[in-house]
Amino acid sequence: MITVVLKALDLYIKFASEIIKEGNVVGFPTETVYGLGANAFDENAVRKIFEAKGRPADNPLIVHICDMSMLNSDIVSSVPPLAYKLAEKFWPGPFTMILPKSDKIPSVTSGGLDTVGVRFPSNETAQNLIRLCGVPIAAPSANLSGSPSPTNARRVYQDMKGRIPVILDGGECEVGLESTVVCLEGDGVRILRPGAVTKEMLSEVCPVTVDGGVLSEVPESENVRSPGMKYRHYAPKAEVILVKGPLSAYRKYVEENADETTFCLLFDVDEKVDWIPYEVYGDSSGDQARTLFEALRKLDERGAKRIFARCPDRDGVGLAVYNRILRAAGFDVVEV
Ligand code: TXA
Ligand code: MG
Repeated sequence: MITVVLKALDLYIKFASEIIKEGNVVGFPTETVYGLGANAFDENAVRKIFEAKGRPADNPLIVHICDMSMLNSDIVSSVPPLAYKLAEKFWPGPFTMILPKSDKIPSVTSGGLDTVGVRFPSNETAQNLIRLCGVPIAAPSANLSGSPSPTNARRVYQDMKGRIPVILDGGECEVGLESTVVCLEGDGVRILRPGAVTKEMLSEVCPVTVDGGVLSEVPESENVRSPGMKYRHYAPKAEVILVKGPLSAYRKYVEENADETTFCLLFDVDEKVDWIPYEVYGDSSGDQARTLFEALRKLDERGAKRIFARCPDRDGVGLAVYNRILRAAGFDVVEV
C-alpha cells in the first residue's frame, strides 16, 4: 500500500473523509497526538486500525465526536448529569469520558467492554474530518503499538508507511500527550490516564480519585479498569532510567554510571554532563508534555541504548508527563 501525506487543507480533509467512509483508515492530527481514525460503527474498518498498529484486541479505542448532539443513543446508552457538566467545562479538548456504550458501537471498537471512551477534540482538522464523515471516528494514537505517540505527521509516516493510505498533516500537536481519561464513580471521577485536563482542574468540578495504575505498575493478573494501563507503553527502543534528585546528584550518578551508549534526557542544555550526548525536553511541565515523545524518538534515532532521564515534577500536567516517562522507563526509578 502506498501512503500519502497531505496537508490538512479543506480539499484534502474532504478526500480523507471519503477514504474513511469507504471503510479505510486515515492518520489525522488532534490537539493531543495524531490519531488513526476509522468509522467507529464499521467493524471491518476498526479491525484495520488494530492491524495497522499491531494493537492487542482487548485494548479499547476512543470514539471521537465533533458536536454535543453526537453524544446520543447511537454511541452511549446513558449520560449521567455529571458527564454533561464535565463536557461543558472540558469539551472540546483533551478529555475522554468512559460511559456505558450503546449496542451500535461494535465490541471490536470497545475491546469487548460494555463501556466506550468518548472525546470531543478541539483541533479544527479533527472536527472537520468527523463532520464530513458524518459518523463518530474511533481513533487510537497513530503509533505502532508500544511506541511513543506521534506528535507530527512525519512520525506517523515513519510508523504507518505502507499500512494506511492517507495521513493528514496538521503540523505539531499543541499538547503532545494523549487526553485525560476518566470514568465516573459515585459523585466524582477516577483518573485512569492523566493528561492536560489536570486533576486540579477536575477538582473544581467534582471529587477526583487518581487510579493506582497511574503511578504504579499494575500486576498482569489484575483486572484493570483501563486495559491500556497493563501494556508497556510510550517506550523507545533504548532502556530508560528515571533519575530522581537534585541536579548535582543527577550529574554525579550519570558520570559514575555512563558508558559510550548512554544518553541524557534533560530539562535544559545547562544541565549537560561533559561528553555525554543528550536531548532536552523542557523545564516547564507544558514544554515537557509537548516535547517528551519527540525527544524519545530522537534518542532512538541517535542510537541511544540507555537513557538517564531527569525526573519531572508531578503538578498539573506534570502528572501526565511523569506517568508517560515512568512507563517508558518500565517503572525503573533511581533516587539519588
Ligand atoms: O488524546 C487521545 O486520547 C488520543 C487522540 C488520538 O485522541 N487517543 C489515544 O488513544 O490516546 P489510545 O487508544 O492510544 O489510548 C486510549 C486509552 C487506552 O489506554 C485505553 O485502554 C483507554 O484509553 N480506554 C479506551 N476506552 C476505554 C474504556 N471503554 N474503558 C477503559 N479504558 C478505555
Ligand atoms: Mg496510544
